[in-house]
Amino acid sequence: MTALILRHDGYAKDRSTGTPTDLSPFLELAEVPVPQPGPGQALIKVARAAVNPSDVMFVAGLYGQPRKAGQPAGFEAVGEVVAGDTPLMGQRVSFSGAGLGTWADYALADVSGLIPLRPDVTDEDAAGLIVNPLTAMAMFDIVQQDGADGFLFTAGGSQLGKFLTALGRDSGVAPIPVVRREAQVGPLKALGAAEVLVTTDPDFPERMADVMKTYGPRILLDAVADQISADLFFAMPRGARWIPYGRLSTEAPRLDQIGQFIFMDKSVQGFWLAKWFTTTPPEQVGKAVAAVQERFASGKWTTDISAVLPLRDALDRLPEALAAKDAKIQLAP
Ligand SMILES: NC(=O)c1ccc[n+]([C@@H]2O[C@H](COP(=O)([O-])OP(=O)(O)OC[C@H]3O[C@@H](n4cnc5c(N)ncnc54)[C@H](OP(=O)(O)O)[C@@H]3O)[C@@H](O)[C@H]2O)c1
Repeated sequence: MTALILRHDGYAKDRSTGTPTDLSPFLELAEVPVPQPGPGQALIKVARAAVNPSDVMFVAGLYGQPRKAGQPAGFEAVGEVVAGDTPLMGQRVSFSGAGLGTWADYALADVSGLIPLRPDVTDEDAAGLIVNPLTAMAMFDIVQQDGADGFLFTAGGSQLGKFLTALGRDSGVAPIPVVRREAQVGPLKALGAAEVLVTTDPDFPERMADVMKTYGPRILLDAVADQISADLFFAMPRGARWIPYGRLSTEAPRLDQIGQFIFMDKSVQGFWLAKWFTTTPPEQVGKAVAAVQERFASGKWTTDISAVLPLRDALDRLPEALAAKDAKIQLAP
């Protein structure tokens, strides 16, 4: 089978670099044997695979788990079960790769993690049904438990930011995305954002102060983790929680108001979906998966796609495709 395989083991030596767009130093297109499912595993014929920031960070050795040279990259995909010890044979499923990745003609998955799909969920949505949708669901639970009138999230125009915006809209908790480009304001407002903070707007500090007064947000879901994130957090009210879940910026934030941790009950704690899976009861995971499928099937969520690249052309076309804004890339074998 054809696969995009990793060239390197372990982590990058320099972990302070930004997200690359050219993946050819890290990946090669190769012919490799079709993997054989072991006990508890299924073989999936991949139909579409997602390309998320976490995939790119992983490929470049900048993610929270080590690479294995020679293995296909890619964390999630949709496809058909073609072999393995499972009653789901022949079914269309969303899945995460088990050890081996999804940027390949075939991939292995743990049977326990297969998500059989409703027929009314499209392959476009199903290819990326796990990483961003379940993270949005899980983090929005934290928002709802907190109970404030609104919540803040950075990289607000990301696919995940759009999912969070719609969740806030549908649940009556004011979604307040933070973005760096004015062009994202209109689409996010149309999607249901109560306010959109633009970090490059000269009035950003005043607008930020207004938002704090009006909505009293206590949760900051942060994919950027730069000085602006820190400034937002320190401007938030008593009890605020900064939840970093991505590191899209290479700038290290300065925590210059340590007193707020002592006297204002503020805290910082990251979120990682991989940990959520291991710490959340299976019934709750099942409910979240069903809710995600319902949101896609009913049109409450859609995945914006800018390009579907054939696996065989991906290395050449990814740099240009990754430079496109406001939509995802997918790979098709
Ligand atoms: N921790 C977890 O378990 C978990 C799970 C899922 C996703 N994530 C993280 O969630 C984030 C969003 O994922 P996604 O797939 O939704 O992303 P995406 O659709 O590819 O969008 C990325 C967004 O990030 C913005 N961005 C990039 N660099 C930035 C910077 N330095 N400052 C401000 N904004 C920046 C981009 O804004 P421009 O358009 O202006 O460039 C774009 O809107 C990623 O960091 C991903 O790793 C984490």
